[in-house]
Amino acid sequence: MQDYTDFLQEILIPEEELQARVLELGAEISRDYVGQDLLLICILRGGVMFLTDLMRALSIPHAIDFMAVSSYGAGARSSGSEVRITLDLTTAVEGRNLLLVEDIIDSGNTIASVLELLKTRHPKSMRVCALLDKAERREAVVPIDYRGFTIPNKFVFGYGLDLDDYYRNLPFIGVVQPDKYLQTD
Ligand code: IMP
Ligand code: MG
Repeated sequence: MQDYTDFLQEILIPEEELQARVLELGAEISRDYVGQDLLLICILRGGVMFLTDLMRALSIPHAIDFMAVSSYGAGARSSGSEVRITLDLTTAVEGRNLLLVEDIIDSGNTIASVLELLKTRHPKSMRVCALLDKAERREAVVPIDYRGFTIPNKFVFGYGLDLDDYYRNLPFIGVVQPDKYLQTD
């Protein structure tokens, strides 16, 4: 297993900037949902670190639950039906205010299909909170209600985002130098 310093091209978003932005998002969300029920839905696994920091930045009572999805292989495109639920919620969402917490929105297909699915369960409202928005790559129409940062079309890792499932623990968002990263699978 390589040390991340072997393939880190640059630190795109340092820890202090991430933390400051998460506090701002937390304050904004707390204002918007004051006096209302709120259920945060974290999309595993990438959203975990963002979720736990965001929770600490919320000043209002809220519940959490988790969901995991996988796309049908690298060729999977556009249609929401090409995303499969691998871990479902344990909470009933009918009549509740849902806030989906995602690490990054790339093509937008993942979040679009999750929204489509959850809609069938009749929540009171649904919003999306994404730490990173790789806007150039968007294929699906996705409303991002709370956005941490818009980033360029580069492959990034750290702060929940993985490279072949590793390096999620790093406290910053780094850019991969592709010719230096040796794929493990
Ligand atoms: P989408 O369906 O194309 O929007 O894909 C979103 C998912 O792809 C995210 O939840 C991430 O797991 C993954 N992903 C997209 N871009 C990156 C990246 O630059 N680094 C790590 N994971 C990424
Ligand atoms: Mg993810």
